Amino acid sequence: MQDRQTVTRGMRDYTSGRLWGMDCVCVLSRIGKVAAAATVSTLIERFGVTHVLFTGVAGSVDKRVKVGDIVVADALVQHDMDARPLFPRFEIPLLGQERFASDLHLTDSVALAAGEFLAAGLGGIGESDRAAFGLDRPSVHRGLIASGDEFIHRGERHAALRQAFPDLLAVEMEGAAVAQVCFEFGLPFAVIRTISDGADEGAPLDFMQFIERVAARYAYGIVERYCASGRG
Ligand code: ADE
Repeated sequence: MQDRQTVTRGMRDYTSGRLWGMDCVCVLSRIGKVAAAATVSTLIERFGVTHVLFTGVAGSVDKRVKVGDIVVADALVQHDMDARPLFPRFEIPLLGQERFASDLHLTDSVALAAGEFLAAGLGGIGESDRAAFGLDRPSVHRGLIASGDEFIHRGERHAALRQAFPDLLAVEMEGAAVAQVCFEFGLPFAVIRTISDGADEGAPLDFMQFIERVAARYAYGIVERYCASGRG
């Protein structure tokens, strides 16, 4: 990052500067919906960002979506929101909606960057890691992501989520909170996730290894292509 400056607020380091020609503020949100919402609120209110791009990993809940694939959210839902009987299950109270649509232009641009990253050979991830994680011609998917303060690692929770949201592709713990805050502030956002696990019994082990060896390279490679493309 050029002209880099770091400011620490609320246990997070916000690093501002120019990234492949684009003015950016980068920060690790920490884990869960509250952490993500607090981080995005600070990005908006203190740093004046105009767009939000959220990256990270997710568990797959669709057989077609494999470890190493990329899911770009068209819409996000909070699977742990339940204010019944005051409001319908999954509806965000006072907003009258269950799903938040991501910004189409930003999402298209990021999905293109993700496809380019995969086509260009996975940012130098070596043969042994490709074999270890079964990264075999990974692909980009678009669709619904569900977020909640829960790491999904049991078959019955996986099945319950699939039943509640038949079109669900992946689960994680932040995206829909980012989506709600961006919706409330009227900011365009996109959420892009690399699949680290199958949201089943093997998830905890797969998740930790994947984070260390694969996920960061995906995020770097995709953001690089997105920023450098000038597609905005
Ligand atoms: N992020 C990555 N994998 C996940 C899972 N299985 N559940 C929730 N968040 C995740």
